[in-house]
Amino acid sequence: MKSILFQLLAATIATASSLPAFYNASGAPPFFPGEDIQLTEGRLTNASQIFPNSSIHRLFGFGRESKITNNITSFGCKLLPGDAAWPSPSTWDIFNFLLGGSLIKTNPLAAVCYPLWPEYSAQRCKEVSEKWLTSELQLASPGSVMQPLYEGRSCMPPGFNYTTSCEMGAYPTYVVNVSTVAQIQLAVNFARNANLRLVIKNTGHDFLAKSSGKGALSIWTHYLTDKAFYPEFESDDGYTGPAIKVGAGVQTREAYEYAKAHGVTVVGGEDYSVGIAGGFTLGGGHSPMSSMYGMAADQVLAMQVVLASGHFITATAKQNPDIFWMLRGGGGSTIGVVTSMTIKVHPKVQMTTVTLNFTADNDGPDVFWKGVRAYFDNVESLVDKGTYAYYFIGASADERGTTAAGNTSYYFQMQPFAAPNKTIEETKALLNPWFTAMDEFNITYTPVYSHADNFHDSWVVAFPEEKVGQDVVKLASRLMPRSVIHDTTLRNQLVDAIQDAIAKGFFTSGVQLSGTGIAVEPPSTSAAAVLPAWRTTLTQTTVGGEWTFQSDWGTVKEVSLSLTSWMDVLRDLAPDSGAYLNEGDIIEPNQSDAFYGKNYPRLYALKQKYDPTGVFFALTAVGSEDWEVQVTDPLPYSWNNNGRLCRRWK
Ligand SMILES: Cc1cc2nc3c(=O)[nH]c(=O)nc-3n(C[C@H](O)[C@H](O)[C@H](O)COP(=O)(O)OP(=O)(O)OC[C@H]3O[C@@H](n4cnc5c(N)ncnc54)[C@H](O)[C@@H]3O)c2cc1C
Ligand SMILES: *[C@@H]1O[C@H](CO)[C@@H](O)[C@H](O)[C@H]1NC(C)=O
Ligand SMILES: *[C@@H]1O[C@H](CO)[C@@H](O)[C@H](O)[C@H]1NC(C)=O
Ligand SMILES: *[C@@H]1O[C@H](CO)[C@@H](O)[C@H](O)[C@H]1NC(C)=O
Ligand SMILES: *[C@@H]1O[C@H](CO)[C@@H](O)[C@H](O)[C@H]1NC(C)=O
Ligand SMILES: *[C@@H]1O[C@H](CO)[C@@H](O)[C@H](O)[C@H]1NC(C)=O
Ligand SMILES: *[C@@H]1O[C@H](CO)[C@@H](O)[C@H](O)[C@H]1NC(C)=O
Ligand SMILES: *[C@@H]1O[C@H](CO)[C@@H](O)[C@H](O)[C@H]1NC(C)=O
Ligand SMILES: *[C@@H]1O[C@H](CO)[C@@H](O)[C@H](O)[C@H]1NC(C)=O
Ligand SMILES: *[C@@H]1O[C@H](CO)[C@@H](O)[C@H](O)[C@H]1NC(C)=O
Ligand SMILES: *[C@@H]1O[C@H](CO)[C@@H](O)[C@H](O)[C@H]1NC(C)=O
Ligand SMILES: *[C@@H]1O[C@H](CO)[C@@H](O)[C@H](O)[C@H]1NC(C)=O
Repeated sequence: MKSILFQLLAATIATASSLPAFYNASGAPPFFPGEDIQLTEGRLTNASQIFPNSSIHRLFGFGRESKITNNITSFGCKLLPGDAAWPSPSTWDIFNFLLGGSLIKTNPLAAVCYPLWPEYSAQRCKEVSEKWLTSELQLASPGSVMQPLYEGRSCMPPGFNYTTSCEMGAYPTYVVNVSTVAQIQLAVNFARNANLRLVIKNTGHDFLAKSSGKGALSIWTHYLTDKAFYPEFESDDGYTGPAIKVGAGVQTREAYEYAKAHGVTVVGGEDYSVGIAGGFTLGGGHSPMSSMYGMAADQVLAMQVVLASGHFITATAKQNPDIFWMLRGGGGSTIGVVTSMTIKVHPKVQMTTVTLNFTADNDGPDVFWKGVRAYFDNVESLVDKGTYAYYFIGASADERGTTAAGNTSYYFQMQPFAAPNKTIEETKALLNPWFTAMDEFNITYTPVYSHADNFHDSWVVAFPEEKVGQDVVKLASRLMPRSVIHDTTLRNQLVDAIQDAIAKGFFTSGVQLSGTGIAVEPPSTSAAAVLPAWRTTLTQTTVGGEWTFQSDWGTVKEVSLSLTSWMDVLRDLAPDSGAYLNEGDIIEPNQSDAFYGKNYPRLYALKQKYDPTGVFFALTAVGSEDWEVQVTDPLPYSWNNNGRLCRRWK
């Protein structure tokens, strides 16, 4: 009986192919196969005939236009398992039937290490522990996140744990492993109608673990990996040229490989496993190609989106232009679930990368800092040649990859410098002023050059494999505008600040790039919701506070507060700038101003328009100030995702 129903319903809603329901031929490419499969009133009606009561529409019907809408305003909090109103097991079963069986009940990934959990397995625990810091492990696990600090460090494997217990924390309760738009619509409608906390997990890379949420239903976009190439795409904003359409689950490396195969260049992130069509581009997206072409969000030509109402729409410069504007820089998890993006790609270019290190070991700190200053003296001219750099400056043993001799055992690690459209000889000429200064100071450094005739092959050799899964770092960052880098006094103050941060026990990293590419017309500041400060930025300075895996929450709180407070040095240095929402401080003061700048009032109004009941939430996201996470860890509210989500009445 159950399997017949299952087949019937699977065929009815989630996996049946049909004619594209809302396809608009202009401005966006054809739907991917999974986008053709959509939820409709007719399908809901069919399903409710199989389940002969009215719950189907009440639970899974569309918002706003739907005749039956739940009035949730009388209840200020999202449900948690165990609440009286939490959906019954049979309701979850029906949901799973409608989904075609793609609902996953999750437990923490490291539960395999804890004998009290049913999945306990010493062998699996060994594997999980060994791979804990790799993105492969965390990506493949439906509910896991790469920054467990923000889910509550609730179940860490041995060696990484601060307690002897394993709890659910803010790992979601259920995950929908989506492959069709209909499944996303069902999940959005169910969460909205049943008052569930809803999260979206793509890769789980987010630095604030925004894809976690206590008691949440999660939409997992990982398997939306379709790709299509259009050599002559005509977009609604007048662009004609090559474009690729990527599903929401496509990662950086896949996009780069795909672009290489088609002889083009795509503006993606530095790390190979960050999602390209999820939080990265939605939040702006800085790239090794940004100094040439601007932000990733600037490349978007069309998006397909399931809105908070459950309706599936196309957003382009002409269709739903306000949504199109918002989702290019306004951040992930705000008003809808993006199912695909169509993005502009650029001609194939050669690229040279350079990695190098220098330390204070031979020549002492004074000489070391002269070398660092000489680098910053050249940042403006380097960015203006279309180049990018990713560097680390600090004195910590962990970051340095060696046993540090002390807190003045400084290192500078360039990993890497990247020069698109430049030969090795041209790159050497660009770096010559800096290297000449380094030679004068007698600093020992050994640049390693690599060149390829295309972006992918150059990127793949020089960019680092980043560690994830850690809960021992808290980050804060500030965008440094040209006005700071250009001015000798302010530039020196920036280097002094970096030195001071390290003296206080922090580590730093930076990216050198522009949010306004040299190879394109500067974008109009109103074209996308990218934080305006990006347009004048020449470097992003990131500062991190560290503790150990065994540190208690008191230490986490103390280091976090001291870092946020220390950051005033950088805020005062660049008061009119801002901070990148994807790499920001969870307790950034004046947060909406810092992360969204003058765009915030419009972003907030659009949030009210398209998600009036707050289906979507993420810490620091647009509209998040209307909610609080009633954190159960000994931390202030909204410092992580581990607690009930409730409206904050103003
Ligand atoms: C190792 C590492 C390297 C990084 N490098 C860069 C870099 O070079 N440049 C840069 O700009 N940033 C970089 N970042 C930051 C990165 O942009 C953010 O972590 C971003 O949030 C990742 O997006 P995701 O979709 O992969 O991750 P997730 O954690 O899965 O999602 C991030 C947020 O976006 C939301 N979201 C995801 N998919 C969708 C969707 N389809 N529709 C709506 N909302 C969605 C999620 O709900 C969540 O709120 C890096 C991060 C890490 C950890
Ligand atoms: C399709 O998009 C165009 C704009 O490109 C718009 O004018 C038209 O109304 C849309 N059609 C439908 C059916 O949505
Ligand atoms: C509803 O079910 C009927 C009978 O099986 C079928 O003919 C019809 O196409 C279905 N409608 C939808 C929208 O799936
Ligand atoms: C929602 O419920 C509240 C409290 O019961 C009630 O005052 C309000 O009128 C309801 N709103 C709608 C739109 O039904
Ligand atoms: C719908 O009705 C069936 C049969 O009466 C019942 O078992 C089921 O629990 C109901 N579903 C919901 C979601 O209320
Ligand atoms: C971590 O877990 C191990 C194994 O359960 C336990 O022996 C150890 O005490 C835990 N560490 C801390 C700091 O609680
Ligand atoms: C998720 O769905 C995909 C198909 O889209 C399938 O290959 C994969 O095994 C599923 N993963 C889990 C954990 O269910
Ligand atoms: C720089 O140092 C890092 C960490 O020790 C090391 O992995 C890398 O190979 C070094 N790079 C060069 C060019 O020496
Ligand atoms: C230059 O550095 C080397 C070691 O790297 C040292 O032996 C030499 O004395 C230094 N020369 C000067 C002029 O500082
Ligand atoms: C760094 O070393 C100096 C000198 O030994 C010491 O005064 C200072 O407290 C140290 N700072 C940190 C953060 O350890
Ligand atoms: C690459 O550099 C050449 C000059 O060396 C220039 O003519 C060309 O426009 C550049 N390409 C891009 C995409 O900027
Ligand atoms: C927030 O911004 C206002 C005005 O821009 C400023 O006066 C205030 O000092 C800022 N607060 C913090 C904590 O930075």
